[in-house]
Amino acid sequence: MSATHSHDLMIRIIGLRKTYELGGENRVHALAGVDLEVTNGSYIAIMGPSGSGKSTMLNLLGCLDRPTSGAYFLGDEDVARMSDDQLSEVRGRRIGFIFQSYNLIAQLTVLENIQVPLFYQGKDLRQYHEHCEKMADLVGLSDRLHHRPNQLSGGQQQRVAIARSLVNDPLMILADEPTGNLDSKTGKEVLDIISELNRQGKTIVLVTHDDKVAARAHRIIHMKDGLIDREVVNRPAPTSRPSTRGPGTGALSAATVQPLNP
Ligand SMILES: Nc1ncnc2c1ncn2[C@@H]1O[C@H](COP(=O)(O)OP(=O)(O)OP(=O)(O)O)[C@@H](O)[C@H]1O
Ligand SMILES: [Mg+2]
Repeated sequence: MSATHSHDLMIRIIGLRKTYELGGENRVHALAGVDLEVTNGSYIAIMGPSGSGKSTMLNLLGCLDRPTSGAYFLGDEDVARMSDDQLSEVRGRRIGFIFQSYNLIAQLTVLENIQVPLFYQGKDLRQYHEHCEKMADLVGLSDRLHHRPNQLSGGQQQRVAIARSLVNDPLMILADEPTGNLDSKTGKEVLDIISELNRQGKTIVLVTHDDKVAARAHRIIHMKDGLIDREVVNRPAPTSRPSTRGPGTGALSAATVQPLNP
């Protein structure tokens, strides 16, 4: 057993399985019984061949989907047993998502895209105007608030997605190939923002095919055939959530991410 206290854990999964039934005898064991513990404030990279279960894992961690069996504790909450409504409540309150294809809404402006998670939480958007502008500022987009996604570069679109992922002040950010569509310089800028968020205490779980991207994480989990095949520790993860820090020197140096307070 590890010596980690359960209150230091962001994620604890035990025997997690996801089976897709394709009719008849045909089924895919996308996750075949995964055990994993992730401490608060760690930065985890998930790697592995196509089809090994990385996105399935991220979707389950993000409460976008439910396991076929097994346990999943997010902090102290047993999410594997929750109803759909409870899942979406946990998702809205604790988790931010960044996807390879940005997943922005084409008809909405930058500012409106950043507001989307608040809208789904039923918040009064007028009260959060300044907060959302601040999130845009954090990712260097204050001068693009009223642009639409097709008027932005790929890197700018991904920064909108990062601002959107931060708007609920989540404890954990999940990223599926966040630099997959970006050139290496723009990708590095996006990764610098993600690293800075981790330094500020956010737990990060990031799926990537790129060794250089994974090298930023504390731990690299290699998946194969729906299981964790092996794990590489790059550097020690913090043992507990770091306290709030002052302005840093990297990306996001203008301000630290503020909790929601209207
Ligand atoms: N909705 C679904 N129905 C049936 N099978 C699925 C479904 N989603 C995923 N699978 C299967 O589950 C396995 C794991 O898929 P997953 O998307 O997690 O892989 P991945 O590791 O993210 O791959 P990639 O690197 O290509 O993104 C694959 O064999 C895939 O075909
Ligand atoms: Mg995938």
